[in-house]
Amino acid sequence: MSLLKPTLHVEVSVKAGMVDRANVVQLRNDVKQWLTADFVTVQIGHDFSAELSDSRLANLIEGIEVVDYTGPPTVDGDCYHVRGIALDVQTYTLKAENERDPRRSISQADDSELAQARVLQLPSIALKDEWNSLVFDDALPARLLRYMTRMVGMMKQPGLNLSTFNWNRLCLLHGPPGSGKSTLCRALAQQLSIRLGDSFPNATLIEINTNAMLSKYFGESGKLIGATFEKITAMAQDQRALICVVMDEVETIAGSRERSTSGAECNDGMRATNQLLTALDRLRHLPNVIVLCTSNLIGAIDQAFLDRVDIKQLIPSPSPAAIYNIFRSCLNELVRSSLVDAAAMQVSSCTTTARRVVSRSTSTGSSSPAKPIKRSKTLASSSSPEPWTVISAPEIPTYSEMLVRWVNQPQSPGRRVWALAQKCEGFSGRTLRRLPILGLAMYTWGGDCSLDDAITALEAAVNQELLAKGTAHVEVKVEVE
Ligand SMILES: Nc1ncnc2c1ncn2[C@@H]1O[C@H](COP(=O)(O)OP(=O)(O)OP(=O)(O)O)[C@@H](O)[C@H]1O
Ligand SMILES: [Mg+2]
Repeated sequence: MSLLKPTLHVEVSVKAGMVDRANVVQLRNDVKQWLTADFVTVQIGHDFSAELSDSRLANLIEGIEVVDYTGPPTVDGDCYHVRGIALDVQTYTLKAENERDPRRSISQADDSELAQARVLQLPSIALKDEWNSLVFDDALPARLLRYMTRMVGMMKQPGLNLSTFNWNRLCLLHGPPGSGKSTLCRALAQQLSIRLGDSFPNATLIEINTNAMLSKYFGESGKLIGATFEKITAMAQDQRALICVVMDEVETIAGSRERSTSGAECNDGMRATNQLLTALDRLRHLPNVIVLCTSNLIGAIDQAFLDRVDIKQLIPSPSPAAIYNIFRSCLNELVRSSLVDAAAMQVSSCTTTARRVVSRSTSTGSSSPAKPIKRSKTLASSSSPEPWTVISAPEIPTYSEMLVRWVNQPQSPGRRVWALAQKCEGFSGRTLRRLPILGLAMYTWGGDCSLDDAITALEAAVNQELLAKGTAHVEVKVEVE
């Protein structure tokens, strides 16, 4: 296969128990045929399940998403012509935590309260939303996923002499707190298990609890690390199992040995680091193991550990465009879940005076997504036959739509959110995901809350956060009625 063969990666989520292994190939072919026959172009990120015309497929499938494109850059942005491109269709069924092989833990037999690692079968229902919840520029998660897929794929090449290459399949995500490192590690493990499902029918996530590794008993940390990695090595003996090891805050057990010898600190940390390095060297010979680590203190990590890392990736705080998309997803979720009233629309009079009127939705179903208004609509009034014109749909537009259609309309929801996003540069993803709902809780009183009210509440929460950070002397003005 050529390195540059353009490929569209399609993920098909199959309903539990609907397709056995023997019929998976047939299902993939059917999906390929359906996509090629029914579509000229497809867009990355689009879920096709609603368009499934074939009722037999619709009965088997939960979702079909075109998740990624690999190959030389094209001019059409996110849109790709289906014909003339290879379709890599992967099928998977999400595993529930309470299934036959539930989340369990690796722990010392004599100290069961202390779980050194949590074990989760992949792909897991518990991680199903993590990948799509992350917003980064330059398709950073997709790029990392490609590197790792290629890494693991190449290691499986028959006849490849592994000892020729010094390759640990070790990836370190580092960056400021709350930038999404831990979430990205788990999401990468989940996506790898789907993308590599053909080569590895079984996949397991092992999340090492680095804090639990630092034993309360002096001198025990090294032993705990050694024992945990022995168990991981034993699990990896099954060549058809992909093992994704995640070590969060890895500096806890991979701290600089120079530091621990220079100060008056005990050398337990040094033993832990030594043991970890030895364990990693052993894992290197197992082509089905991938290790993902995070740290926000890269300067505190031991040089020998850093030297073993194949991919060091800085995960920065979100850019203003990413912040816009984070706020957009939060606000649209508030609308979708009916916490914010989708039907409470901001309207303006045809005359110069603008007023707010609320139009009730006839549908009260909380689970149905809000339907965006596609065309301009006129509401009746007693004083004048056509006094009101809807100026905004009850959801936040995409970033590009906002730039094209709303950027010169400072009162439109999209433009207001964009103004806020620019103010929030430097905020962590964690803070950003909190502010829309925090704003709603702090600055509204329940009842009919429109999208404009929710944005006003978000503004107040942002100003409050800026005040707390001491970066702006702004007065928190609560304007929500
Ligand atoms: N870029 C982002 N896009 C969307 N959500 C984000 C982003 N970064 C962080 N978040 C959200 O913030 C929360 C915290 O993220 P996470 O725990 O992965 O950060 P972290 O980098 O591991 O933080 P820490 O360094 O404190 O461990 C999660 O709910 C995550 O969804
Ligand atoms: Mg973290």
